[in-house]
Amino acid sequence: MASDATTTAPAAAAVKKPKLHGRAFYESIGSPKYIVAPMVDQSEFAWRMLSRSFLPESQQSDMLAYSPMFHARLFSESQKYFDQHFQPTKPGSDALFLDGNPAIDRPFFVQFCANDPQALLNAAKRVTPYCDAVDLNLGCPQGIAKKGHYGSFLQEDQELIHRLIKTLHENLEIPVTAKIRILETKEATLKYAQNVLSAGASILTVHGRLREQKGHLTGLADWQMIRYLRDNLPPETVLFANGNILQHEDLEKCLAATGADGVMSAEGNLSNPAIFAAPPPAGEEPRGFWRGRDGKGGWRVDEVFRRYLDILHQYVLGVPPPPRRPLFVPGDDTAWMEEAIVLPGQGGGDGGKAKKRKGDVAKGNPALLAANFISMQPHLFHLLRHFVSRHTDVRDALARARVGDLETYEAIYRMVEKKTAEGLLEYERTDGKSVEAEMPAPLEKEEEDDPESSARAVRECKRPWWVVQPIIRPLPKEAMAKGAIQLSKKEKKRVAAEMEGKEEQGTTAKRAKEGAAAAAEKPSAETAAATESLEKTTSYPSSELVSG
Ligand SMILES: Cc1cc2nc3c(=O)[nH]c(=O)nc-3n(C[C@H](O)[C@H](O)[C@H](O)COP(=O)(O)O)c2cc1C
Repeated sequence: MASDATTTAPAAAAVKKPKLHGRAFYESIGSPKYIVAPMVDQSEFAWRMLSRSFLPESQQSDMLAYSPMFHARLFSESQKYFDQHFQPTKPGSDALFLDGNPAIDRPFFVQFCANDPQALLNAAKRVTPYCDAVDLNLGCPQGIAKKGHYGSFLQEDQELIHRLIKTLHENLEIPVTAKIRILETKEATLKYAQNVLSAGASILTVHGRLREQKGHLTGLADWQMIRYLRDNLPPETVLFANGNILQHEDLEKCLAATGADGVMSAEGNLSNPAIFAAPPPAGEEPRGFWRGRDGKGGWRVDEVFRRYLDILHQYVLGVPPPPRRPLFVPGDDTAWMEEAIVLPGQGGGDGGKAKKRKGDVAKGNPALLAANFISMQPHLFHLLRHFVSRHTDVRDALARARVGDLETYEAIYRMVEKKTAEGLLEYERTDGKSVEAEMPAPLEKEEEDDPESSARAVRECKRPWWVVQPIIRPLPKEAMAKGAIQLSKKEKKRVAAEMEGKEEQGTTAKRAKEGAAAAAEKPSAETAAATESLEKTTSYPSSELVSG
């Protein structure tokens, strides 16, 4: 990680580059192949930095990261919103700080949602000195986007989309890019892509799912549709593919299947911020990377958690991280494991009764109420998803941790460090048998090539609980079979109306609709319990704003 991050904004502005477009622009930022997706409340500075930290220095420009989606009007009109979400300079000075700092946070695109070209331009101008491009979100499928008329709900208004992009293309000093979802047919999707590109978008990201594919209906992304765009758009078009990335191996598969220039990951990256880095070769693993007797491995949760905390201390708070012992590996001294862990304000950490910490930790220190700290708890739930289903005391401590309370997060880290050490020691003691019971059963014959089954993915990705790993959602048919899909009355009505009104075209569309149709038939009382139990095993803290 580069350490000199103290250039000032005017100095950065003085070396203004000429505005490039399309492939020339893409090449000017190093032709990144791997992309950290825009994620509301989740792709903030510290997370981007953590994701970048797993790549060797020489490969840093291989990774591009997007900001979370910001609301264009709020961003330009509300100083409070701006300060909470975007910290390009140190408070009260023009010394470069976090977001987009050329020493530590590039290449970097800032994403907005908008439906008013002028509001979008106003917001975009505020970030121009601090990023490489501005992206327009055309993928958000959530109710909040429907209400606000943005994201994927602009799909039906291609003329407005054209104006939004063109306004930035013609008036902004840096390039504009866009992220879309696919439509139901190849032809419609191609026309949509052509509209976005002809308006002036330099890069097009395609999330290979329909607007309807969200929540339990998420299902698989359609890489074929992205391939179709690749084959039918001018070859110089820069395309990013998005969807279906669970682990590192999927990145190259996606690039090969789609022919895209880059591949973007959201959920895979949240579960494993090292997803874009090639795993170390067998026999050369650092302490933080665990490899089992079957040769499968992954980054340890304690390593990832510690790195994340260190970034928050060092870069966001500007203080040295607390001294840490080397990550434990069996064979090391174990005396430290006897030390008691105290959770500040929550009672004992080692099985002690947890109480909510009184008072607002961040009170009087607005820096602690900014995005980098607000996002901590959901990040840690995501990273520790498999860990906390085993160690519910860690889950409870995490649930009680307050925004900005780094002292408590440090204590939770120590719990994780100790439990990881215990897990590793037990694994050694039992010659690997301690985790056998948790590993998925071999595939049934009919599961082997079944595109409606997630069994293969679960089998390939499953690791012991001390390793970061993806959360694999059941595919829509499986969720349905478990009675997990539950739609509100309003949704059922909407799905039924949509189904009557449209012809079924394309396999993805068909799958999403089958799921929705069957879900609409399920009596809600019957499904409530199943939903709850499935949520427990598959989901993570949800944000109303989860988008895409
Ligand atoms: C927590 C979360 C927040 C998201 N927020 C955004 C967002 O702000 N803007 C956006 O374009 N997409 C957003 N998405 C969608 C992702 O960028 C991505 O398109 C989608 O998750 C599919 O990629 P994946 O299969 O790698 O998860 C979000 C996804 C998640 C999981």
